Amino acid sequence: MGSVADSLMKKIETREAKIGVVGLGYVGLPLAVEFADAGFSVLGFEVSADKVKSLMAGRSYVGDVPDEQVAASVETGRLTATLDYGRLSEVDAILICVPTPLGKTGDPDVSYIMSATESIGRSIHEGQLIVLESTTYPGTTRELLLPALSGGGRLSVGVDFFLAFSPERVDPGNPVWKIGNTPKVVGGITQACSEVSRALYSTIIERVVAVSSTEAAELTKLLENTFRSVNIALANEMQVVCDKLEVDVWEVIAAAESKPFGFMKFTPGPGLGGHCIPVDPHYLSWKMKTLDYKTRLIELASEINAEMPRYVTEKAADLLNRDGKPVKGSAVLVVGAAYKRDTDDTRESPALDVIQLLAEKGAQVKYHDPLVPSLRHEGQDMESVPLDERLVTDSDVIVIVTDHTGVDYDLIRRSGRPVLDTRNVLGRAVPEATTPVTAGE
Ligand SMILES: NC(=O)c1ccc[n+]([C@@H]2O[C@H](COP(=O)([O-])OP(=O)(O)OC[C@H]3O[C@@H](n4cnc5c(N)ncnc54)[C@H](O)[C@@H]3O)[C@@H](O)[C@H]2O)c1
Repeated sequence: MGSVADSLMKKIETREAKIGVVGLGYVGLPLAVEFADAGFSVLGFEVSADKVKSLMAGRSYVGDVPDEQVAASVETGRLTATLDYGRLSEVDAILICVPTPLGKTGDPDVSYIMSATESIGRSIHEGQLIVLESTTYPGTTRELLLPALSGGGRLSVGVDFFLAFSPERVDPGNPVWKIGNTPKVVGGITQACSEVSRALYSTIIERVVAVSSTEAAELTKLLENTFRSVNIALANEMQVVCDKLEVDVWEVIAAAESKPFGFMKFTPGPGLGGHCIPVDPHYLSWKMKTLDYKTRLIELASEINAEMPRYVTEKAADLLNRDGKPVKGSAVLVVGAAYKRDTDDTRESPALDVIQLLAEKGAQVKYHDPLVPSLRHEGQDMESVPLDERLVTDSDVIVIVTDHTGVDYDLIRRSGRPVLDTRNVLGRAVPEATTPVTAGE
């Protein structure tokens, strides 16, 4: 490798390298504190003044990162959050962790990536490593980042500066798989780019897997999440099939799971949620559309998953109907607003759709979520209500959307009220300790 790469590797090895993390959200903040804990000096760049203020006061806003960890890193000076992009020139490695949502038309919105990249491009200098971690379509790193980072042709990639893509695999709320023990994939524009990024991540992650290109790394993430979307869609379709055949889908899945090979358990649910599984497959289908190829299976899976909140609402209406009650005016309790167990994240949560669909039909909807004290959806504010005997017995139907561990399911079970349990949480003897492969993630 060249001398610039060698000296950057040396700085990484000795922890003298200063690390910049752009975007301190669910992905960026855990990464920033992990590098700070490993002995690096970390500068976190944000556009949200509230987040910077909170972190500098030692307060975390991400469930998996405790306040104490942030406070300790800030106190020792290992972690500093800033709004000042002028400080990008101070760092040796920059990890981009900004959002990649869908635009209004359902197409990729890479504007956050572009805005961060343009800022980096203005101050890029020799010896810097830039890694994109945001999930995106194959080609983004080479086609969008590389031209903006070459300093107007002044800097040569793989020689003067280094550029790679490394997908984030964080699974919020997972008690087993954390940053350190989840293998990380990296793909550089050149071999030297891969090597430098591998060296950096190896300081905090046990196993780093290098692939031959940024496109291979970008596609790895999309394969992982599309795999989940497609298999969750199959589980959801099995739910509908089993309902029609009056067979318990959970019993069938448990029995299939006894096969020690060739089957992997996925479970049905109320629909997809979060920033990843409902969104990422669209990045791939969009890219393939530009190449005149329709990703039929991927699109069908998204369609099936997107129909689930409506299906859940219809089933809740059926339960009310069984008791001779119309949806209009009935008291419906939705348990769980977060998109998955033990997180406070409500982005794209199917609970929001379920609440809205029921409210549109005139139901009196309340929700309980120990991790989501309030929510705003489609302009409406709601507050979580305490789960007590009175609330439960006053409900005409209870819809369990999220299977958080801290909920008194026995109270619901004992009440004898009609329950639509989309997660089979009441069917489990004890809530599972680890995160299963489940719908709605
Ligand atoms: N949340 C997950 O579980 C998860 C898992 C794997 C991958 N990802 C991917 O990681 C990326 C980030 O996701 P997230 O969940 O952390 O999003 P997030 O919204 O929680 O965090 C992104 C942060 O970036 C900040 N930001 C936006 N533009 C910025 C800019 N120009 N400069 C500095 N900061 C900026 C936002 O204020 C926000 O705090 C996305 O591409 C997502 O698909 C997320």
